[in-house]
Amino acid sequence: MEQNVIELNDVFKEYMLGKTVVRAVNGVSFAIAPGEFTVIAGPSGSGKTTILNMVGCIDDATSGEVLVKGKNHRMMSDNEASFFRNSTIGYVFQNFNLIPVLNTYENIEYPLRIGGKRIDKSVKIKIMNLIEEVGLTDFIKHRPDKLSGGQRQRVAVARALVNNPDIVIADEPTANLDYNTGSEIISIMQRLNELYGTTFVISTHSEMIMKRARRIISIIDGKVQSDIGECDENKNQNYDNIFNESLCSVTGTGC
Ligand SMILES: Nc1ncnc2c1ncn2[C@@H]1O[C@H](COP(=O)(O)OP(=O)(O)OP(=O)(O)O)[C@@H](O)[C@H]1O
Ligand SMILES: [Mg+2]
Repeated sequence: MEQNVIELNDVFKEYMLGKTVVRAVNGVSFAIAPGEFTVIAGPSGSGKTTILNMVGCIDDATSGEVLVKGKNHRMMSDNEASFFRNSTIGYVFQNFNLIPVLNTYENIEYPLRIGGKRIDKSVKIKIMNLIEEVGLTDFIKHRPDKLSGGQRQRVAVARALVNNPDIVIADEPTANLDYNTGSEIISIMQRLNELYGTTFVISTHSEMIMKRARRIISIIDGKVQSDIGECDENKNQNYDNIFNESLCSVTGTGC
């Protein structure tokens, strides 16, 4: 059987707020296989971002084990961990986080420059292909302030994929977009998931995204409330049921 690309085993995360301990993640375990398109759903404050940050190797668990491609980034040196992050994981943020002085092409190219990669012809072709796949061929030289929110998020999605990562992590990627624009972004992510087999993990409150997920892990108060639609032998799952059960467990409605 193929190795899980992400594995959380009994993970806890605590923050100190003054003298009070805030338990943001409270014994979470799940595994994600390569190529899955998974949504982490849950109300505000339930622990979604905290979980994604640990999966993205940008934060450490207080206890338990977080494995990405079978590796625990805490066992690596700073340099090794940063190389591992750069080559394994792409990030998409709610606020796009583009560099204002760089245009579309340069923003997408930027992670390669940071990683010290030589930008040869094949790399340029790869970037141009990504720009085409996210529908920005006519906006290559535009800086972010000349792009709409949806176009900025398209740039961010292309940037997340430029290093051929195993995993793309997207924390509420459509929260700043209207329904139709958000829906287009999710369609692009689904297409890229199918095209490249990249594993996507997306946190959201949005019913639109939940409806389109193949797997929904619902989080409440830092715990897994339900994990529905796990990619396995159940290929003929009814996705409406996945959505309804998850919505029910997260909001208490739609039951
Ligand atoms: N740096 C921090 N210090 C203290 N408490 C924190 C910190 N970061 C998160 N928390 C707390 O941990 C809990 C989980 O927060 P988290 O941001 O993971 O939730 P979330 O599900 O992403 O919420 P939202 O949907 O609003 O983004 C919350 O109670 C939050 O207040
Ligand atoms: Mg959050």
